[in-house]
Amino acid sequence: METVIQLTYLLSAILFVVGLKRLQSPATARKGNSLAALAMLLAIIATVLETQILDWTWILVGIALGGMIGGAAARSVEMTAMPELVGIFNAFGGGASALVAIAEFLATPGIGASTTGVTILLGTLIGSVTFSGSFIAFAKLQGLMTGNPITFPFQNAFNALLFIAAISLGAVTLGVFGSGDPQTLFYVFCTFALILGVLLVIPIGGADMPVVISLLNSYSGLAASAAGFVIGNTVLIISGALVGASGLILTQLMCKGMNRSLANVAFGGFGGSAGVDRSEIGQRPVQSADAEGVAAELGYVNSVVVVPGYGLAVAQSQHELRKVGDLLEERGVDVKYAIHPVAGRMPGHMNVLLAEADVSYDKLYDLDEINDDFGNTDAVLVVGANDVVNPAARDPQSVITGMPILDVDRARRVIVMKRSLSPGFAGIDNDLFYMDNTLMFFGDAKESMAELVREVRELA
Ligand code: TAP
Repeated sequence: METVIQLTYLLSAILFVVGLKRLQSPATARKGNSLAALAMLLAIIATVLETQILDWTWILVGIALGGMIGGAAARSVEMTAMPELVGIFNAFGGGASALVAIAEFLATPGIGASTTGVTILLGTLIGSVTFSGSFIAFAKLQGLMTGNPITFPFQNAFNALLFIAAISLGAVTLGVFGSGDPQTLFYVFCTFALILGVLLVIPIGGADMPVVISLLNSYSGLAASAAGFVIGNTVLIISGALVGASGLILTQLMCKGMNRSLANVAFGGFGGSAGVDRSEIGQRPVQSADAEGVAAELGYVNSVVVVPGYGLAVAQSQHELRKVGDLLEERGVDVKYAIHPVAGRMPGHMNVLLAEADVSYDKLYDLDEINDDFGNTDAVLVVGANDVVNPAARDPQSVITGMPILDVDRARRVIVMKRSLSPGFAGIDNDLFYMDNTLMFFGDAKESMAELVREVRELA
């Protein structure tokens, strides 16, 4: 039986890795997800068989409750609220790992400075930081608390001190030095870890929350891995490590897409509107067009590049967008879609939306692949994107300086579809709107796109 269980764990770990590998491409991502879900099912079955379950009641209640909440959330949550949902999942994941470690500590008093003792403390620390930090990230994104960075003097030094204090307390708890009641010390250690989670996330602006959520996701994996060591479960160690590593890679990719370092995100206090002078935003004159004018601009050219952004997700106008693309192609226009790595609010956001509307993957181009082509493009249709096409990124004084952008301003004609001249996520004005070759097409992206479908159909 033991061999079968270990082999099942091995198979499950292999399936996790293959599943992750398949997530690399939109074409194989669904399969990858199913494989990883199967791996999880196998891991659960093996764990349940390995453990001599005395009472199935809690397990069944857990499966039923978890299944119901997860299923309802996955169906009802809007695509734009995905970071919040992931934030909550991370909180529960981190919390669960911390509880496993805490339970193990309470079950083995006087564990001392053993490997298990250290992993218990690590699991508790990382799990608790993830738990409280993820709730703050959720509250910021949900608008339950201010999205602006909350800072106070010597904050980083204070956080560092708190961290050192927590580690020292942990060492005393394990009897490495000093003395005291281990249980009381352990509870203070848990409290410090929870406070640390809050303090690490409050100085980060709401704008940077997706990066923080990805980082916390990585932490939740590490906490799970530590919990795996604590209870001696191989597949939990492996799957936790996979989550930890992939979360870290994702965090790095997001930082790269914004040209920011992780340290700058964590300690920079960027991303809130505090301190930014908004009075000048949207005050300059622009040229605008209606759906009929835009249809004429797009329908009689050779090449059109579509740049989707967060507004496309908000309006859910991907299906209408595809119809416009199809109609233009029927007219002989070459239509491509340019995907910025941080367009929207999570990695792959635009790819998912366009895949949902059955836009063929081979029409999607990454920033590096398409940026040199804009100079030879007849028209660019920017749909609810703002920061990712803001030429201010080339200005050394701008808050988004150095962020890689799609050079749409180099195209012969730029059409920007959005509701107003309001700024995007970074909270700054966009010179693109005021350029001679730009036409603003004001309105909700879904309604505007539906009008555009009608107008392109009517073109001669
Ligand atoms: P944003 O710069 O946030 O701009 C989105 C624009 O969509 C807004 O200016 C808004 O203008 C418009 N919009 C909103 N609702 C709309 C609707 N119903 N119809 C039409 N337009 C609508 O978006 P972006 O260009 O995609 O850039 C993403 C930003 O998020 C970047 O700054 C990036 O650094 C940041 N970020 C992304 C990620 C990831 S991983 N994707 C993670 C962290 C941060 P109106 O209000 O005028 O309509």
